[in-house]
Amino acid sequence: MCGIVGYLGTRRAYPVLIKGLKRLEYRGYDSAGVALITDRGDLQVYKTKGKVADLEAYASDKDVTGCVGIAHTRWATHGEPNSTNAHPHYSESNNLALIHNGIIENYITLKKQLEEHGVKFRSTTDTEVLVQLIEYMQKSQNVDLLTAVRLSLQRVIGAYAIAILDKSNPGQIIAARKSSPLVVGIGEDEFFLGSDASPIIEYTDKVIYLNDGDIAVIRRNEELEIVDFNNIPLEHEIKTVDLKLGQIEKGGFPHFMLKEIFEQPECLKDCMRGRINVDQTHVKLSAIIDYKDRLLAARRFIIVACGTSWHAGLIGKQLIESICGIPVEVEYASEFRYSNPVITNEDVVIAISQSGETADTLAAIQLAKQKGAFIYGICNAVGSSIARATDTGSYIHVGPEIGVASTKAFTGQVTVLTMLALALAKEKKVISSNQYSMMVNELNAIPDKMEEVLKANDHIRDISRIFTYAHNFLYLGRGFNYPVALEGALKLKEISYIHAEGYPAAEMKHGPIALIDDEMPVVVIATQNVLYDKLMSNIQEIKARRGRVIAIVTEGDTSVKALADEYIELPRTLECLEPLLATIPLQMLAYHIAICKGKDVDQPRNLAKSVTVE
Ligand code: AGP
Ligand code: GLU
Repeated sequence: MCGIVGYLGTRRAYPVLIKGLKRLEYRGYDSAGVALITDRGDLQVYKTKGKVADLEAYASDKDVTGCVGIAHTRWATHGEPNSTNAHPHYSESNNLALIHNGIIENYITLKKQLEEHGVKFRSTTDTEVLVQLIEYMQKSQNVDLLTAVRLSLQRVIGAYAIAILDKSNPGQIIAARKSSPLVVGIGEDEFFLGSDASPIIEYTDKVIYLNDGDIAVIRRNEELEIVDFNNIPLEHEIKTVDLKLGQIEKGGFPHFMLKEIFEQPECLKDCMRGRINVDQTHVKLSAIIDYKDRLLAARRFIIVACGTSWHAGLIGKQLIESICGIPVEVEYASEFRYSNPVITNEDVVIAISQSGETADTLAAIQLAKQKGAFIYGICNAVGSSIARATDTGSYIHVGPEIGVASTKAFTGQVTVLTMLALALAKEKKVISSNQYSMMVNELNAIPDKMEEVLKANDHIRDISRIFTYAHNFLYLGRGFNYPVALEGALKLKEISYIHAEGYPAAEMKHGPIALIDDEMPVVVIATQNVLYDKLMSNIQEIKARRGRVIAIVTEGDTSVKALADEYIELPRTLECLEPLLATIPLQMLAYHIAICKGKDVDQPRNLAKSVTVE
């Protein structure tokens, strides 16, 4: 959840660390801290509640010299977000400083044992137990830091990415990972650490993605060494990251979220590039070519995901079932992993994750693998843990998504799922060539149609001003647009803190209709498809109770427009592709309402971009 940065080299570490923290701040932002080996040889820790800017203000009159340091931006799991619980944590003697991303599950037992040996704790975090245990090992076993880290990690249960500084060995950082991401950047006479590559790419494109169980030993004037818990040296592959600085900056937009909403047409072109041929007659996904037999033999697909990715999965289910005739189940990864699911080696599990680091989704994959299923990943973050844990997959290629509220990843996921359904249906010979070419053509036309939808931005901003008073919102949709309603409601909740619920429109009369009065805005996705007349009736039901309707309609519509209080038009497309267009006005509505309410849209309260804990 949190962001980790580290530096050892010839430059001043502090500015590199602060810049890196800012790039990672989207991952967690309740407190921040830095540890430096200063020019005087001290191990200094500065940390404070709040954002990276608060840390900078706090450290402005402190000694921030030195060329070795580690830094952290926290998303608290154990213990209040305050300056004591912020990372880095000192060991009891102040000789070690440690940062941690993840959860130490057996921290209570370990803490008790250490307290029995007289160790005094300062914070209420699970993390502090790590640094105290490592120091205890160093002292009680009379071993060096690396050995102490190895021995300690053998006793730890949980998930972690950690980095440690030792005052008595100032030219060294030790880092390790299990279930939380960690990347080492290799420069000229310098090394970087990051939770992902974004704090590193400004300096080098050479990185090593650490694997679970790796301990990286970074030492001045030495080659990087990676060992396992038993000190056996491990091979490591240096990869070249293809990430440009511009992709992780705001590019003139006031917020990452707005930039990412507006990027969607280009992102979808990137997502389809090389996969839909130029004359638009064929969809080619290399995973389907490489694993054709395995995928065609699938008895059923099980989609596992969380949050927005789960909503994309609901659309994927409808696409695959309706186009390929293969049964699909969609599960919350967090529920799936504990539900003792019946899975056989004839099943294919599709794991969807923007970050590729979501702990629940990763655990669901591991369970499905143990039971013999074949795993297909749909990820955005290249080289992420989920991408590496799957048997095959397709990246969505929409570029880094930094706004905590997922936008372009959703439309990218739906696009990959559409291509997957089309390619499978073609291989299974269950789609007519007419339907196939019509869908391929129409999918290819979506980016231009998205551009049309984006022109409604000012209109949506005006609408949002009318509705900032609301404490509740209802979102209704049917068929392919039901998951869009869920996604629209999630977006509003996440960034404006207005309570919102998504419902299949026909379900309204079975309960939620009780909520409707003249203060209740209802967003209805009422495009002209087979369920149009039914939706018209739902809108009548809302109006009869004086609810306020914001309708998403097909351009040229007159009937819904006549009833709705506000409307937003979408270009016409195939019903199964409507989610790609209908989602955009809902993203913009959530964005503008949150802005009107003065909320921090890129870093909404309590959330984090990448949920690497259970
Ligand atoms: C989306 O706006 C959310 N912040 C969240 O629901 C997210 O989609 C979920 O945590 C899954 O993340 P992933 O796609 O990175 O696995
Ligand atoms: N569990 C640790 C804490 O609450 C680390 C949280 C994080 O990953 O930011 O401090």
